[in-house]
Amino acid sequence: MRAPSNPFILSGYHSPAYFCNRQMELAWLEEQFRNERNAVLYAYRRMGKTALIKHFFYHLEKEKRAKTVFLDLLGTSSMPEANKKLANAIVQKFGNINDGIGKKMLAMLSSLGATIGLDPISGAPQVTFGLVQPTEVERSMEAIGSFLKETKQPVVIAIDEFQQITEYATQKAEAVFRSWTQEFPMIRFIFSGSHRQMMQTMFTDQNRPFYNSAQLWSLEPIGKMDYATFIRAFFKKANLEISEPLLDKIFEWCRMQTYYVQLICNKLYGRRQTVNDELLLEVQQETVQQEAPLFSTYQHLLTDFQWRTLKAIALHETVQSPTSQEFLAKYKLGAASSVSTALKLLVKKEFVVYQNDHYRLHDTLLMRWFQQI
Ligand SMILES: Nc1ncnc2c1ncn2[C@@H]1O[C@H](COP(=O)(O)OP(=O)(O)O)[C@@H](O)[C@H]1O
Ligand SMILES: [Mg+2]
Repeated sequence: MRAPSNPFILSGYHSPAYFCNRQMELAWLEEQFRNERNAVLYAYRRMGKTALIKHFFYHLEKEKRAKTVFLDLLGTSSMPEANKKLANAIVQKFGNINDGIGKKMLAMLSSLGATIGLDPISGAPQVTFGLVQPTEVERSMEAIGSFLKETKQPVVIAIDEFQQITEYATQKAEAVFRSWTQEFPMIRFIFSGSHRQMMQTMFTDQNRPFYNSAQLWSLEPIGKMDYATFIRAFFKKANLEISEPLLDKIFEWCRMQTYYVQLICNKLYGRRQTVNDELLLEVQQETVQQEAPLFSTYQHLLTDFQWRTLKAIALHETVQSPTSQEFLAKYKLGAASSVSTALKLLVKKEFVVYQNDHYRLHDTLLMRWFQQI
């Protein structure tokens, strides 16, 4: 793969050289893998869950220690959709028409009513299902599992945005997935998700199918010192300067949300000049402006009162008691009970997160936008 022209990668994963730290997390994932444990990774959006899994997979594949399958459930709303994504991920990895085991799996999927074709753009094998009945979904998952069992190398399946299955219309999605993973104890799973509370509940509530079935890890922000070293090294290599106080300002403004640190650094680096306060301010404003059209559409998703509550929290940055008289009066919010109701919805919809007894916006850039308008 060619080296990127800007070292601050904004989408996906490139290689270890452009990936900052996460040594502890990598070692933890290694340990779970070596000891046949399933792992759960949870953190707010854009902290680096997906990139970390790709980083781990990069090493496993490079050292030929395992076959890795990456499945993203974002945007799926039913078991047949999840199944389709799973089948596609597997077929793309193993569906080599020229080897016996790949052939067997493709034949098995066809027998369940799937059509196997080639993606016209990438040329990769692709599965299409017609109208599938729930029983067929289970049979298809079963068949995929039995196929994976036959592979000689260990198989690790990452299921990203796993909390999505709790949104499926069928109540049974968690149970179906759980019994599937139980049936194939030699396949390792990594579940990851951005709804922290939901992920925790799914794996620690005694009444839920996945109770006690995996080790949990909460992904925290990258340490400031490590991130500063990482950033400065790239600037220095390009004969550019960025001072320590400026880095602190970036971290503060981005609240250490990884993606935004990357985004600001990518833009600053792109200017190819010594970074000063003025340039930083300009880049910050440009970044907020670019997202403004998207952010303003959020208003239509919420009632007027929910919107005003969200804005009040954004202006305050973090709020411990959003129903206190002081807060209500300051932002003219009226009744405490209405704020509680609005907050419940904002948390459920992931606009607001509740952590360490405080409420704050999930998306740092949305917060900065509210502070500007
Ligand atoms: N350790 C890291 N070093 C450098 N960039 C990172 C790191 N972790 C994440 N990123 C970048 O931040 C962005 C957001 O990360 P991502 O893994 O998509 O977050 P999440 O899955 O938690 O929403 C990605 O574009 C990725 O390139
Ligand atoms: Mg992700």
